[in-house]
Amino acid sequence: MELAGRTALLTGATGGLGRAIAVALAQRGVSLALSGRKLEALEALAAELPGDGHRVFAADLAEPGAAEKLAAEVGAVDILLANAGLPGTGRLPDFSADELSGALRVNLEAPMLLARAMEPGMLAKGSGHMVFVASLSGKSATPLSSVYNATKFGLRGFALGLRADLNPLGVGVSIVSPGTIREAGMYADSGADVLPGLGTGSPQQVADAVVTAIEQNKVELAVAPIQQRLLAHFGLASPGIAVKIASGKAGQKAAANVAAGQKDKR
Ligand SMILES: NC(=O)c1ccc[n+]([C@@H]2O[C@H](COP(=O)([O-])OP(=O)(O)OC[C@H]3O[C@@H](n4cnc5c(N)ncnc54)[C@H](OP(=O)(O)O)[C@@H]3O)[C@@H](O)[C@H]2O)c1
Repeated sequence: MELAGRTALLTGATGGLGRAIAVALAQRGVSLALSGRKLEALEALAAELPGDGHRVFAADLAEPGAAEKLAAEVGAVDILLANAGLPGTGRLPDFSADELSGALRVNLEAPMLLARAMEPGMLAKGSGHMVFVASLSGKSATPLSSVYNATKFGLRGFALGLRADLNPLGVGVSIVSPGTIREAGMYADSGADVLPGLGTGSPQQVADAVVTAIEQNKVELAVAPIQQRLLAHFGLASPGIAVKIASGKAGQKAAANVAAGQKDKR
């Protein structure tokens, strides 16, 4: 799909990756409906973006009914970009029941509800595109990530199934799966070091992947160095061995550092 002149709803617009995606789309002539929980941050972002017609919508997607309300307020758009997410790291018993359902709502249920709301408008037009920002954690599991893994495995499955339904009808569906991203976003904010030899991607590369996914109707783009992509693929092909390797001493230590730095984002 050509981007110039289109409208898009972007969730998680105030986050490290959301900002880069917002700039990349606005630079290509997309008018954005920007969503996150913090109205002031959304307004500041909208004012910084090139182009005009950007709108802001504060919504806490962990609240029941918030996704449907957001979709109704925004109205029909050409592009849905479901990017908002929580890290959901830590041991399962450390989550309160509310934290658990909040993570499921924000990372998985809200993208599904937004897609459900946007689908009829796109089908009526015979065009549209939905991008779901998943993760390499949707392909292979690591310690202290069972909740996050559940949401991202689920999101990938949802998006692939939805693509099977909508692509033949003229509506594109793509997955963008970042690995470990430096400079900004939930991994960088944790302050944890990256495991030696694994490398990182950048928010700009995620934004470029979103643009390519929409313009070329890609099924899935991973944003990570080759070694991370190979490990994730191995996790899909041989989950037992992959989990055993990931839960070794080095993996446990790295995961504990990340989870400790992400506690405030639960
Ligand atoms: N950074 C990475 O290394 C990485 C790797 C793989 C996948 N991802 C995925 O990339 C996406 C963006 O993550 P990020 O790194 O940009 O994270 P981030 O910097 O922590 O930003 C998260 C975004 O999600 C929004 N959000 C969080 N909880 C919300 C809620 N309850 N209701 C509505 N919005 C909420 C935040 O809005 P507020 O401003 O209101 O907090 C923020 O805009 C996520 O889906 C994440 O899983 C990131």
